[in-house]
Amino acid sequence: MFFSFSWLLVLLSCILLETAAWINYTSDGTATMTHYELPENYVASCGCTPSSTHYPTAALSQMAYGSSTAYGPGCGKCFNLTLLNTWTSTPPFYPSVTKHIVIKVTDLCPLSGDGWCSATDSKPNPSGQYLNFDLAYPSDAIPDNFFPSNASLYGYTDFGVWNISYQTVSCENWAGWGNEAALGSVAYLGSESVCCPDNPTGSANDTCPSYSDDNGIPPDTTTSSSPRTAGATPSIIIFVSILLCCYVG
Ligand SMILES: *[C@@H]1O[C@H](CO)[C@@H](O)[C@H](O)[C@H]1NC(C)=O
Ligand SMILES: *[C@@H]1O[C@H](CO)[C@@H](O)[C@H](O)[C@H]1NC(C)=O
Ligand SMILES: *[C@@H]1O[C@H](CO)[C@@H](O)[C@H](O)[C@H]1NC(C)=O
Ligand SMILES: *[C@@H]1O[C@H](CO)[C@@H](O)[C@H](O)[C@H]1NC(C)=O
Ligand SMILES: *[C@@H]1O[C@H](CO)[C@@H](O)[C@H](O)[C@H]1NC(C)=O
Repeated sequence: MFFSFSWLLVLLSCILLETAAWINYTSDGTATMTHYELPENYVASCGCTPSSTHYPTAALSQMAYGSSTAYGPGCGKCFNLTLLNTWTSTPPFYPSVTKHIVIKVTDLCPLSGDGWCSATDSKPNPSGQYLNFDLAYPSDAIPDNFFPSNASLYGYTDFGVWNISYQTVSCENWAGWGNEAALGSVAYLGSESVCCPDNPTGSANDTCPSYSDDNGIPPDTTTSSSPRTAGATPSIIIFVSILLCCYVG
């Protein structure tokens, strides 16, 4: 009895320790890309302005984002994402055109058991990657034919998940850079729960701290019948990730 209880404690502390180890990623590398539905003008986890959704945005996988709730160091960062290939399809698809897009991170893609946002610093996601960018798509900011496909060969056009390369870039390269209203965070939610720098560089004075590190990671006290309010939780991402996992996996 005592033995199994200590084991439970050890197990619990391992889980907690693992949850607290954010992923240190290099400025350039490979990752996976999925997509999710983000309603236009929705204020996502970082608290970036509604107008940010008028330009390409993405949610970053939790352990790279750097927080389990609200904002994290990933908020506001801009990345140039280039589509390489798909591999969950049979056969793998290598597009004949090279598509890239510069996105701003405005949302958190929650850590999930074995989904595309499941990587921790010790365990990559199902494709061996430590980062997943969940692109807000479809979006008025991105052409509907952004993702290359070959309908006659595959019988469908949405591969769901892509192998990509990423580069950390200055947000001056982001399509929304010229629009002051698309930069920064909303004021009405209070500065304690929002953080969306216009061009974070990693310095303490222009990069968000981790909301979880500063406030502790709260236990999940929701029950299966708890209502979810829009704007407060990334429920849409969870929903779409589940859909995507079932669809792709
Ligand atoms: C990540 O980098 C930070 C700051 O450089 C460091 O304190 C931390 O130990 C690193 N974590 C890992 C898992 O390497
Ligand atoms: C993004 O990457 C593509 C290549 O995939 C490159 O042509 C383009 O110049 C890059 N854009 C920026 C802003 O780095
Ligand atoms: C689709 O795949 C077929 C078979 O590999 C190929 O012949 C055709 O050119 C491809 N079409 C496009 C648009 O890539
Ligand atoms: C993703 O692309 C990289 C670079 O081309 C390649 O090394 C890797 O094998 C690819 N991964 C998958 C799962 O296709
Ligand atoms: C942050 O600090 C660096 C040097 O410490 C300075 O050059 C930079 O202008 C500061 N950025 C902001 C947004 O205050």
